[in-house]
Amino acid sequence: MTNFHILGILLTSFISVHGAPRNIIFIAADDLGWNDVGFHNEDMITPNIDKLANRGVILNSSYVQPVCTPSRHSWMTGVYPFKAGLQRGVIFPDVAECSPLNLTFLPQRLQQLGYATHIVGKWHLGDCNWNCTPTYRGFDSFLGYYNGMEDYYTKIRNNGIDFHDGEKPLQDTAYSTFIYAQRAQNIIEEHNKSRPLFLYLPFQAVHAPIEVPQRFEDMYPHIQTDTRRKYCGMVSALDEAIGNITKTLINNNMMDDTLIIFSADNGGMVTQGGNNYPLRGGKVTLFEGGTRGAAFIFGNGLAKSGYTYDGMIHAVDWHPTIVAAAGGELPHKESSTIDGINQWEALSTGSESKRTEFVYNLDNEQMAPTGHAAIRVGKYKLIDGYPGPFRSWYPPDQVTKDECDCSDEREYYNCLQKRDTVRLIDAQEKGLGGMWAGEGLYDLTVDPNERNDISKQHPDIVKELKDKLDEYRKSYVTPVPDTPVPASNPDNYDGYWMPGWC
Ligand SMILES: *[C@@H]1O[C@H](CO)[C@@H](O)[C@H](O)[C@H]1NC(C)=O
Ligand SMILES: *[C@@H]1O[C@H](CO)[C@@H](O)[C@H](O)[C@H]1NC(C)=O
Ligand SMILES: *[C@@H]1O[C@H](CO)[C@@H](O)[C@H](O)[C@H]1NC(C)=O
Ligand SMILES: *[C@@H]1O[C@H](CO)[C@@H](O)[C@H](O)[C@H]1NC(C)=O
Repeated sequence: MTNFHILGILLTSFISVHGAPRNIIFIAADDLGWNDVGFHNEDMITPNIDKLANRGVILNSSYVQPVCTPSRHSWMTGVYPFKAGLQRGVIFPDVAECSPLNLTFLPQRLQQLGYATHIVGKWHLGDCNWNCTPTYRGFDSFLGYYNGMEDYYTKIRNNGIDFHDGEKPLQDTAYSTFIYAQRAQNIIEEHNKSRPLFLYLPFQAVHAPIEVPQRFEDMYPHIQTDTRRKYCGMVSALDEAIGNITKTLINNNMMDDTLIIFSADNGGMVTQGGNNYPLRGGKVTLFEGGTRGAAFIFGNGLAKSGYTYDGMIHAVDWHPTIVAAAGGELPHKESSTIDGINQWEALSTGSESKRTEFVYNLDNEQMAPTGHAAIRVGKYKLIDGYPGPFRSWYPPDQVTKDECDCSDEREYYNCLQKRDTVRLIDAQEKGLGGMWAGEGLYDLTVDPNERNDISKQHPDIVKELKDKLDEYRKSYVTPVPDTPVPASNPDNYDGYWMPGWC
């Protein structure tokens, strides 16, 4: 590197630290698999996403939680879900549960730094009380839904409509990807540039139900299986939305001042068209296919770009990292109580990640007596207990069926619990041991697809990692039981899912 280059980098970082605060757009894709973006799989048609990823920094080791609510909780709070009782799964619409109210949410910190803050899309961090909802937790505006798995057009989940503008229920039967893109574009167009903008954009796409306008499905005529063809169309609709939003940023002269972060919330759901190949497993599992997310960053503040960054990032890191990218700093006391690490320097300069270990998840009761836990330390990963229902490797465009019907979330988790408890006990009795279940120790530097359990060769490392998990267990918080609350019924609220019943 010449002196001239070094000077250039120093100047860029000086301007980004001391210049106007940057806009930050955090785009989340729901249930998007590792193998479902063009920058990992050339069969996917995602030109807009690929352009940003290839000109930005592709994150090769960006980890999320195995399901939706815990990942979103991690992004917003910087605290592991197992310390907040949110490690079990998603928040069901009729359960009185929310991300703990004594934790500070990311947009609250950004408001303190002078940001305008908006959310467009899915919340899924609780809605039984108004205090749990977006506009009470740091967002100036909200358009979207509180829960998950609703219809893309009717916005109906079970027996109610879940769609809201701010605190008002709303009816709009357009395909949600269009609605959310349009709202994001309106926010950008109307933004007063005397303040920086934070836009959190958790799209409904590409979670089930599998629904997409025909023209997107038609982009994949060579795909044989119906679900996968439609699913790929959903990804391309999301890509078009992102293309429209970036055009609006350019037209409003905001692109050069904007940092874009893109992340999946968990792996693809292999029974619903999602694909994580060659990674093992998928959504709802502790394998890499469930937890290693497709992700990139692009734009303002990156002194180095156009490469793939292999450093370890975890979902909890985004909270302190985004605060730092916004020119702020966490109060000293809080930066030591949260789990997130400020990775802004690492990401903006391409230097070594500050993270050397993380907990994939910790749930002492799920599939008792085995539990459900995994930890990464350096190159090693230990899966201790139940890894989740999908234990294989799933090439794209094949039908993956599961006898547990996932069209109803509560029934689905109950079914998995019953079936897999029987299977685990069976495997233990037959002496099939941990390998059948996928439990074990993996060296991810040589075996990123978790094909070789090396626990027998390295009992010392297994013990070391188990001890570390036990250390984390000291801050374990028991999950809230998912007892339905009848007062939540949309019949009490003119047919809408509304807060106010806890
Ligand atoms: C939030 O409240 C819980 C439960 O009372 C407590 O265990 C936890 O330490 C609190 N966290 C913070 C950051 O105050
Ligand atoms: C933008 O905000 C500034 C500061 O609050 C205000 O003076 C100005 O009038 C606003 N501009 C517009 C177009 O609203
Ligand atoms: C993108 O913008 C075009 C032109 O306005 C519009 O026709 C299309 O529906 C938009 N697509 C999405 C996904 O928002
Ligand atoms: C990304 O991860 C894969 C393993 O899944 C590895 O083979 C590859 O070398 C990594 N890329 C970079 C640039 O580190």
